[in-house]
Amino acid sequence: MTKKDFIPGASSNTLQKGTVTYRAPSNIALVKYWGKKPDQVPANPSLSFMLDACATTTTMTYGAKAGGQTGFSFDLLFNGRPKEAFRPKIRTFLERVAPYVPFVHDHHFTIETANSFPHSSGIASSASGMAALALCLMEMEKELFPDMERDFLFAKASFLARLGSGSASRSIVGSLVHWGEHKGTPGSTDLYGIPYPHEVHPVFTRYQDTILLVDKGQKQVSSTVGHELMQGHPYAEARFGQAHAHLDRLRSIFKDGELDDFMALVESEALTLHAMMMCSSPYFILMKPNTLQIIERIWEFRRSTGAHVCFTLDAGANVHVLYPDHEKEAVMSFIEEALVPFCENGQYIQDNVGTGARKS
Ligand code: PMV
Repeated sequence: MTKKDFIPGASSNTLQKGTVTYRAPSNIALVKYWGKKPDQVPANPSLSFMLDACATTTTMTYGAKAGGQTGFSFDLLFNGRPKEAFRPKIRTFLERVAPYVPFVHDHHFTIETANSFPHSSGIASSASGMAALALCLMEMEKELFPDMERDFLFAKASFLARLGSGSASRSIVGSLVHWGEHKGTPGSTDLYGIPYPHEVHPVFTRYQDTILLVDKGQKQVSSTVGHELMQGHPYAEARFGQAHAHLDRLRSIFKDGELDDFMALVESEALTLHAMMMCSSPYFILMKPNTLQIIERIWEFRRSTGAHVCFTLDAGANVHVLYPDHEKEAVMSFIEEALVPFCENGQYIQDNVGTGARKS
């Protein structure tokens, strides 16, 4: 596939008016995407767990645009209220996707969106938000091309979502989702995410993710700025090579369910992401003292009990605690007793690996 394959031909149908709703989950990267080239092309391939509870639900109502109006025409409601602050992001998204879904020029849209997770929890909603939006657009395109196959719809939805936010390409379909060209992953491409094509041990299918909200404030470094920091970064090439090597290594880890190696690799990815930020120019420390407290306690607990619990981080202070479903009882009592005290207002979100977005 090339990006030209996503430019639609002429259709004998027309898009009238209607409503479509999608719920798209967030995802948590195991192998991190950090650094990009123009056009939202990732500097290295990445792999994530699809989440389940953390999701964005978006309803798009579409209809004729008022005559004589130029530019994109849309109303935006977040949690039922107009949200001026989100409009520029949506406009940029529409500009980027318009060559591939040209009907966005001719219609008026009412976009109603809501997140399942608390607003300003420090959890980015760009992945789930852009994925839900892209899926709604693809559902409209299906009105124009009723024979469109499901696989194409998902691939193009991921392609469109990626233009909004890179990690959104991994919030469409699959439990483990791979995005970015990688020799060892058949079908992998920089254009869109694909369900992980290799064998996966059942221990990973219901993996748990308890998200500890250490710092609910606005992100100190936006991911746009973060990706830019990798340009001219002294360790960039080594880091990109490491991501490829980690993906090679994960193949047997996933097949055989090697949890010790899984935990070591996932934690190394999280700390490398933060290490990259610590030695960027300018440099940032995105962990908070409580992030480190949590990490130390996880290591202590793992040493003393042999539990298969590890952590990962995104570009912020919150901690994702990952563990297999069958160890949930013991790990949850440890989390509640030893880790929740380090969360802002004791807040955390219980999530697990899901299967992807759903139309409703
Ligand atoms: O999709 P973006 O541009 O917000 O970048 C996401 C970057 C990380 O969350 C830090 C890593 C990842 O792969 O999701």
